[in-house]
Amino acid sequence: MISFILNDRLIQTDKPAGMPLLDFIRYEQDLKGTKSGCREGDCGACTVIEGKLVNGKLQYRTIVSCLTPLGNVQGKHIVTVEGLNTEKPSPVQVALVEHNGTQCGFCTPGFVVSLTAYLMAEETGPENAIAAIDGNICRCTGYQSIKRASEDVEKLKSELTGSDSIRQFIEKKIIPDWFGNIEERLKAIPPLKKLSGEKTIIIGGGTDLMVQQPDDIRGLDITFLHDADDLKGISFQNNYCTIGAETPASEIMNSIELQRHFPKLKEYFKLISSTQIRNMGTLAGNFVNASPIGDLSIIFLALNADIYLNENEDRKRKISLKDFFLDYKKLDLHASEIIEKIVFRLPDTNTRFHFEKVGKRTHLDIASVNSAILLKTENDVITEAYLSAGGVSPVPLYLKETSAFLKGKEITAGTVVEANHIAQQEISPISDIRGSEAYKRLLLRQLIFIHFLELFPEMVLFNELIDVQT
Ligand SMILES: Cc1cc2nc3c(=O)[nH]c(=O)nc-3n(C[C@H](O)[C@H](O)[C@H](O)COP(=O)(O)OP(=O)(O)OC[C@H]3O[C@@H](n4cnc5c(N)ncnc54)[C@H](O)[C@@H]3O)c2cc1C
Ligand code: FES
Ligand code: FES
Repeated sequence: MISFILNDRLIQTDKPAGMPLLDFIRYEQDLKGTKSGCREGDCGACTVIEGKLVNGKLQYRTIVSCLTPLGNVQGKHIVTVEGLNTEKPSPVQVALVEHNGTQCGFCTPGFVVSLTAYLMAEETGPENAIAAIDGNICRCTGYQSIKRASEDVEKLKSELTGSDSIRQFIEKKIIPDWFGNIEERLKAIPPLKKLSGEKTIIIGGGTDLMVQQPDDIRGLDITFLHDADDLKGISFQNNYCTIGAETPASEIMNSIELQRHFPKLKEYFKLISSTQIRNMGTLAGNFVNASPIGDLSIIFLALNADIYLNENEDRKRKISLKDFFLDYKKLDLHASEIIEKIVFRLPDTNTRFHFEKVGKRTHLDIASVNSAILLKTENDVITEAYLSAGGVSPVPLYLKETSAFLKGKEITAGTVVEANHIAQQEISPISDIRGSEAYKRLLLRQLIFIHFLELFPEMVLFNELIDVQT
């Protein structure tokens, strides 16, 4: 039995835990405001707000309901566009109407929900209204009218104060009155017990599995790890950072402490999927889906992270992420093991890190080639180097030879060009929909160049790189 609050109603259902929340909302509850578009997390038409108790306090954010298995909403508050109805249109709805931000209307509930969730998000949520709708697509308007409506929402956000937020949202008619007692009502719903059975399958955020095998999952016993508290969170100790395996990408992106160590963290993570998908997709899910272009895999390979694997209390082991990816979709992960957490050393003042991603589109696209690098230097000599690249081999690739070459070298254009020559020997890109082999080789060269141009602008110049190259 799965229990959660849908808008203002307590739901208790014995529908399969792997059923997409979207189907439950539309076809079991007849709430047709939540639209079924791509069913792959891309269009945002099925966006709903998810409220969750964090340390006893309700936090709201957006998710796509097409990729959310019912089991992941146990004990949560799910709000559809119908749940935002008050006697009059809400300020978000008014803004969209006044700026003609809706034409055919198919995308509109998704935009209303995303912009409302932005108003309700904590300080560490999306940085502005436009960022909050990065996972919503509109075919009709050309976006300018939606952008203008978002500016009104931005203005409203600036008028909200941080205290007693739910009360404020109700007073400003952003949400209906009954939101006032949701926190208390949720406290009465227990968390989902981990389900297990013969054919059990692990689900994190579901953003990979629910795209790949939605029909198979429906009938299976599922182990839901997404809300397992012991697998979540970010902590710091003795210059090391630990991240729980089920921590979603948005939490990593918005960690103030991590941003202190990686000033461009937000910029990097903005290149990864969309607000909704980052709110759902987890670190472990990114590693285990083993996509050769997985962005988190590439980032944490260059951070030389260790992963902690757990079969049971007596059987635990630690391996380097570098050794985790064996071959295409083949991992050093036993059938009964789960990833528990990752640990990596935080950069010190002599260490620089950079991540680059090139796709066909800048946003909401997977990479053609991506790459990350971490370099530690002393007196302009590299003392530690870790370089990774995606889209150039069957696995997210740690460039072992190139990293070894860089160690002990002075930072010069010659070093960078030679590093690229070695990298080209290590990779084995194939021609596919994301580009030809030659194009991917060229991209990796450019990304290696950009790493050094970004990290050492005072020491490596673009013209020098081209001169040495030719
Ligand atoms: C629209 C869209 C855009 C996307 N864009 C990007 C992108 O730009 N970059 C990118 O890298 N990825 C992208 N992805 C892929 C996906 O979002 C990420 O890989 C995400 O991190 C997967 O995490 P999840 O928790 O949702 O995985 P799930 O689907 O829950 O699980 C994936 C795999 O991990 C396993 N698993 C989960 N947790 C554990 C654990 N603790 N231990 C062992 N196994 C576990 C599951 O069994 C499953 O095999 C996108 C996906 C969508 C739908
Ligand atoms: S239907 Fe397109 S994101 Fe869910
Ligand atoms: S108004 Fe038609 S898709 Fe946006």
